[in-house]
Amino acid sequence: MKTQSIEVAALTEPQAEVELARLAAEIKAHDERYYQQDKPAVPDAEYDALRLRNAEIEARFPQLRRPDSPSLRVGAAPAEAFEKAPHGQPMLSLDNAFDEQDVADFCARIRRFLGLDQAEPLVLTAEPKIDGVSANLRYEKGRLVRGATRGDGLVGENVTANLLTISDIPEFLAGDRLPDVIEVRGEVYMSHADFAVLNENQLAAGKPAFMNPRNAAAGSLRQLDSGITAARPLRFFAYAWGEAQSVPADTQMDVIQAFSGWGLTINPLMRRCADVAELLAAYSEFTALRPTLDYDIDGVVYKVDRLDYQQRLGTVSRAPRWAIAHKFPAEQAQTVLEDIDIQVGRTGALTPVAKLRPVTVGGVVVSNATLHNEDEIARKDVRIGDTVVVQRAGDVIPQIVRVLADQRPETAVPFQFPQLCPACGSHAERETNKSTGKTDVVRRCSGGLICPAQAVERLKHFVSRDAFDIDGLGSKQVEAFYVLGLVQRPSDIFTLAARDKGSLTPLSKREGWGTQSANNLFAAIAARQQIELPRFIYALGIRYVGQMTARLLAKHFGTAVKFVSAMQQLAAEVGQEEQPVHETLLAIDGIGPAVLGALEIFFSEPHNREEISELLKLVEVGEFIQSGQQSTISGKTIVFTGKLEKVTRNEAKAKAEALGAKVSSAVSAKTDLVVAGPGAGSKLKKAQELDVETIDEDGWLDLIGG
Ligand code: IVH
Repeated sequence: MKTQSIEVAALTEPQAEVELARLAAEIKAHDERYYQQDKPAVPDAEYDALRLRNAEIEARFPQLRRPDSPSLRVGAAPAEAFEKAPHGQPMLSLDNAFDEQDVADFCARIRRFLGLDQAEPLVLTAEPKIDGVSANLRYEKGRLVRGATRGDGLVGENVTANLLTISDIPEFLAGDRLPDVIEVRGEVYMSHADFAVLNENQLAAGKPAFMNPRNAAAGSLRQLDSGITAARPLRFFAYAWGEAQSVPADTQMDVIQAFSGWGLTINPLMRRCADVAELLAAYSEFTALRPTLDYDIDGVVYKVDRLDYQQRLGTVSRAPRWAIAHKFPAEQAQTVLEDIDIQVGRTGALTPVAKLRPVTVGGVVVSNATLHNEDEIARKDVRIGDTVVVQRAGDVIPQIVRVLADQRPETAVPFQFPQLCPACGSHAERETNKSTGKTDVVRRCSGGLICPAQAVERLKHFVSRDAFDIDGLGSKQVEAFYVLGLVQRPSDIFTLAARDKGSLTPLSKREGWGTQSANNLFAAIAARQQIELPRFIYALGIRYVGQMTARLLAKHFGTAVKFVSAMQQLAAEVGQEEQPVHETLLAIDGIGPAVLGALEIFFSEPHNREEISELLKLVEVGEFIQSGQQSTISGKTIVFTGKLEKVTRNEAKAKAEALGAKVSSAVSAKTDLVVAGPGAGSKLKKAQELDVETIDEDGWLDLIGG
């Protein structure tokens, strides 16, 4: 058996050593592809799983940690290397059209928006959508002063030196009607021929090949050494503009033509179309031309030609109303499904991943595809050994479209989705919505407190502000401690100080820590070894058990011991005729079937019960004191809306509940009081309509006595 298929818990020490070496090499290779070549080879989830496995093995065999271990490079993304370059105007993206109807709808929408009747012409341009990376070229007085990547659309990276190595991008523009300031936009891409040569050279130099021309272009443009970019033949088509002191014409087509006159390269296929039929004809023509072009295109872009129309149409959520990308259909290929891997996400969701015999789909080698969930596997009847049709569109994760049933080997059996979490062995359950009777499509690991795949997120929740709220132990520290194997489950937090005393590398000797800070942390942890019951329940991170519900449970059960024993009984009641705890819980105002189901699942898992009893040995949970039963607001239903300025919303809510009020999120006739801060809108209006008493934050503070 290969070491990589052995569960962490079952690895022998020599196997673990081999496995750590393998993981270090594999993760390093992925990091390089991701950070230096802009071409991740695997989905994020798969990459995370590798790092996690590495961390788990190191936690079991700390002595085997390698000097080049990936865990010593947590978050080792390269420092920001390029200067930031804010764009004069945002760089927009495009909406997509996937079929002829979408295109017709697009034109009809524009006509409606502009109030054009059928008799009036609506001219649009059609041009190929280049599959590269966009760039913004800022020319001032005809000179390229700054060239930038798109970045987040508002601020990009300054890659001027690299852009100047591209022969399609002149340093100086000259010609008619050239404005003093203009941002020219377009696509940087690599031709197929140049891509092939580049990859040959890469391989000859013992370096990995690029996945496709787009990734090669992106990676080449973001080289810190522009000498490297210069050796990578990039090209550029200009197709749009941003900030401009003036534009040289009043149509899209003529402005782009003017760009050409100034010395920029434009796409020769761009043309005007008089109506939807002509747009679709252009689409068909470009589709037919596509295999003969020396660059990748992934659709056709249509733009309203008249700039006054563009102006009137404006933009919605970062895409112009006057343009659309008509995408080519996703590319497909056939291959064999070799295995189905089950990955456990950070929230405990079990996700099936198809392991494919590598196949090229649209120029990219694909070896993994998503299978979504177990129903999807059953619906498509996907079996290991099947020949399947794989589809890939743009940068999305490849999908399995269907199975070729006639090519199924006789030995192929229906896939059995695991019922136990592959990461920790806890039960994996599909929730049933008790009111609708519907079963969730996602199967989740129920071992929340101990499952290594979920551990980090759970630990972060455990120490978060509304839970244990330990000073100096935030998300960052939790992550670091997890990777170092110091804290793997909540109870480890409270044994940290004791273990540290006898340890070879005490915390105070670790990077970023000193005697003072380590002692402060231990003191902060010790201070939290006494905690209120609602916080304790909330900290467990049970699905649907938020602060409110935790408080309701605390109030009902009073002590941790009573709560836990009731929950164990609840779990034992599942499937029984008599369900007293069940009924008690449902009788609590504010607790419904979803919470009940979540509690059942959580407390049915022995791993969770064990962890809770560990915790209760280390932490003293206070009895819940019913306060404020006689307060002015006890029994009242209160809604908070708008901004509170003196206390947080959570604080106000907690206080109201502590005083015996019920806090609701919606205003209705049953609402007794609305506390409205600045910015309150519809809820305040509704309260006024319903004649519900309304006060502001100061009024609220007065009411509860400060
Ligand atoms: S126009 C205001 N034209 O597609 C509209 N974009 O999906 C700006 N692209 O970010 C874009 N070829 O990187 C336009 N002929 C073309 C294009 C094109 C490729 C890219 C561009 C844009 C993305 C939007």
